[in-house]
Amino acid sequence: MASAAQAKTATERADALEEHMMHELEHIVTKSVLFNLGDGKVEMDGSDKLFAKYPGKYMLMGADPRLPQMPEKPTLIDYFRCRFASMNHLLQSATHALKGGHNEKVIMACLLHDIAVVSFIRCDHGYWGAQMIEPYVDEEVSWAVRAHQALRFFPDEAAGYKYPDAYVKLFGPDYKPEPYIVEEYKRARNHKHYMTARLICVNDIYSFDPNAKVNLDDFVDIIGRNFKQPKEGLGLDNSPSAHMWRTMLWPTRFL
Ligand SMILES: [Fe+2]
Ligand SMILES: [Fe+2]
Repeated sequence: MASAAQAKTATERADALEEHMMHELEHIVTKSVLFNLGDGKVEMDGSDKLFAKYPGKYMLMGADPRLPQMPEKPTLIDYFRCRFASMNHLLQSATHALKGGHNEKVIMACLLHDIAVVSFIRCDHGYWGAQMIEPYVDEEVSWAVRAHQALRFFPDEAAGYKYPDAYVKLFGPDYKPEPYIVEEYKRARNHKHYMTARLICVNDIYSFDPNAKVNLDDFVDIIGRNFKQPKEGLGLDNSPSAHMWRTMLWPTRFL
């Protein structure tokens, strides 16, 4: 009982602190429904309620001052540095691919394979990640990022990939992928870029060492050659996925 009461107090304290912070801001910062879903609530605050809570202020329609400031014309590197919650796993995967002597498309696929997890959303991260990068990379790279979502659940011993022990630990011994993942796997098996996606899985499972020495600078040239940076800034261009990058740029914009 005591710990439950303490937890509640801690939550209340956190809420009060957040509330205080929000009042300090020049504009009204709102949470999208998706953010609230993550807290187990199907909720959103309408403008009337927000205006009553923060009188005299307008809705935020730009950068959130609480987040690291992005340059006027952001690059993929800027997103790595200012919007990715962690890049260690991506860099370790890419470093592993680099040391394994793989080509730059494989290295890029490894470097970008989990960007959706570290920046956007976990569920179906392979699909989201592929969609984000599709306009800017070779189709082999985005195809592989999408397909790794399914392939990682299926072993390919000949390619050096067994079902990860980590997944037994994470999901339990009885976890079975959903039918859409099984179907995706079957389609991917016969695809011309199958091995690129498989290599993401192979380089993935070794890449959770918290002490590994990795550096984004080692990949700046490879990114330069393999990622078509839009001159307007990533997200400020008019590609089919620019809005996804803009959402990361301004996640709390009212509209
Ligand atoms: Fe992944
Ligand atoms: Fe991964």
